[in-house]
Amino acid sequence: MSAGITRVGVVGSGTMGAGIAELFALHGLDVRLAVSRPSSLTAAPARIAASLDRRVAKGRLAPHERDAALAAIAVTADLGDLADRQLVVEAVAEDEGLKQNVFSTLDKVADPDAILASTTSALSITRLAGVVEHPERVLGVHFFNPVAVMELVELVPTLLTADRVRERAEAFVTGLGKKPVTVADRSGFVVNALLIPFLLAAIRMVESGYSSAEAVDQAMESGCAHPMGPLKLADFIGLDVVAAIAEALHAESRQPLHAPPPLLSRMVESGILGRKSGRGFHSYL
Ligand code: CAA
Repeated sequence: MSAGITRVGVVGSGTMGAGIAELFALHGLDVRLAVSRPSSLTAAPARIAASLDRRVAKGRLAPHERDAALAAIAVTADLGDLADRQLVVEAVAEDEGLKQNVFSTLDKVADPDAILASTTSALSITRLAGVVEHPERVLGVHFFNPVAVMELVELVPTLLTADRVRERAEAFVTGLGKKPVTVADRSGFVVNALLIPFLLAAIRMVESGYSSAEAVDQAMESGCAHPMGPLKLADFIGLDVVAAIAEALHAESRQPLHAPPPLLSRMVESGILGRKSGRGFHSYL
């Protein structure tokens, strides 16, 4: 594997963490996946196994390759088990305090040469790096959903990230078949700074009665060749995640176009979170 990185860690087993662990395992890496809830000790491998099974069913993966990938992932509830990792990707919920706690612990337990990465969508990498003793080893490595399919990885060095750390991370993600783009540590980086205002504008169209969710999605799929219309995409990303990214963008920019529309906030408060909850702007039941 490029960059000499073979032992990797992932913190968090949500959509992104599980997808990243699966990607790493499929590339022959030794993966340790740290979870916080005891139930995730069994739920996380089951989720990854289900995804690998879909690949086998489609004939894109041999059963023995699925078994090897699953065997390459060890799940733990103890961040201390990441002590021998050469690179750790944090993928917990989009909450700055939570992520800072993870970084603070990783800083104490991880090998001093380990790269500490976050796959945050919109929080400041600089503020996450602020809680570690050696911020030169911290950078953003932002994957996209579905991790297996989307080629882009945004690499986000801070003003303090060492050049060799960014270069190593770039070689590493290139070795995973991804296309890295280096972007500045500004809220939303490039993709979400452009994408989220678009999704929020689509939500406002529905909120104001201007158009139905179906019509907005159909218009952008058929008129602009988007693979998913904006409301389907918001449901796919998760409405809680869209709202959290919007809050982070708005906190930095203070621009009205970044403010979460009240309809989005009410849906999140009601547990209507998109595809993962079975209901969002569309129904998945
Ligand atoms: N895991 C693995 N593979 C998957 C997958 C998943 N979750 N979802 C789809 N695929 C694969 C399929 O197996 C299929 O591969 P093969 O052709 O080799 O069999 C391929 O992707 C296409 O899938 P489908 O034909 O089933 O369906 P589709 O054509 O509708 O594609 C999609 C599905 C790739 C998700 C497509 O709808 C799409 O590109 N949507 C937009 C995704 C997007 O914009 N993602 C970025 C979100 S923003 C983000 O992630 C950043 C953030 O910080 C919020």
